[in-house]
Amino acid sequence: MLFEHVRTGGCQSYLVGCGDTCSAAVIDPEASQVDRYLALAARDGLRIHYVVDTHTHADHFSAGRSLAQALGAPLVMHRASTAPRVDMRVDDGDMLLVGKLKLQVLHTPGHTQDSLSLVAEDRVFTGDTLLIGGTGRTDLPTGDAGALYDSLFGKLLKLDPALKVFPAHEYKGREHSTIGEEIAGNARLQVKDRAAFIEMMGNLNLSMPAHITEALRTNLSGGRTVAQMLAEAAAVVPFMSMAQLNERIGQHDADLVVLDVRERDAYQNGHIPGAHLLPRGQLELRVNEELPDPTRRIVTCCELGRISTLAAATLRDMGFQRAVALDGGMQSWREAGYPLRQGAEP
Ligand SMILES: [Fe+2]
Repeated sequence: MLFEHVRTGGCQSYLVGCGDTCSAAVIDPEASQVDRYLALAARDGLRIHYVVDTHTHADHFSAGRSLAQALGAPLVMHRASTAPRVDMRVDDGDMLLVGKLKLQVLHTPGHTQDSLSLVAEDRVFTGDTLLIGGTGRTDLPTGDAGALYDSLFGKLLKLDPALKVFPAHEYKGREHSTIGEEIAGNARLQVKDRAAFIEMMGNLNLSMPAHITEALRTNLSGGRTVAQMLAEAAAVVPFMSMAQLNERIGQHDADLVVLDVRERDAYQNGHIPGAHLLPRGQLELRVNEELPDPTRRIVTCCELGRISTLAAATLRDMGFQRAVALDGGMQSWREAGYPLRQGAEP
């Protein structure tokens, strides 16, 4: 079995494959690692046949949809998933064939209703059902402590004790454990009474994961995260450094339009000399009167350099083929001590 372990902080994802047939599957891909999965597959000459999310993640951004799309491979999730853009819904007992490698699906709800585990040869990918020395939490949407107890004691812990456990999360840098080690040493699994287990899970008082709203929105809908939208915009616009812009302002470059896309108050409190004000919210509707010449070189700026990137991408999309974004925002411009003007537009 070909095996690659890709870590993103505490999030664990895996590429598993069959060397004989050059087939592979990716389990729980993370949004910032898409290029890595593609590169690993390319390096080993593998074709990725399946992209599997072990469950609807609430705490990080899944690349399941985007990776599946990039590969033309199906996104696989348990049939209980409510995400609309799942291509292949699987059930307990189903098997995915990755060349000669068999991925056996176990429905292991509890952390979420749609949680599944995958058994492959000598190992089991447990998602957030069973973690090394812990279990997934059950206080997030569709979580159910009783179901988690049944999945653990009724299914996972009954597997071969020698099976290696590879979870979807691991925060202490451990590579894996085994079912036997978890049975012996996992503190939560020592609570063997179902009612006591449910009570324990109900009293964990965990804080909400960061980005839960955005993670659920994007993971459930296949929509894009703010970071993805910014990365897509940044991929289609060039940037201009602050030093370069300052130099051109000093040379009174008549070809250059500095477009400040913040709101009027922010502009009046301090803007780049000669900058033109056109707030981002009004960009599309006012562009014809404000920027009649699409051949002008335009550099957009905003407070932090993110909205200006989106604005430059919009301008490029509208035909301003020389639109670029300032590399940095007005905050950095001020901190660097570059010239500022106050007040309304001249
Ligand atoms: Fe999770």
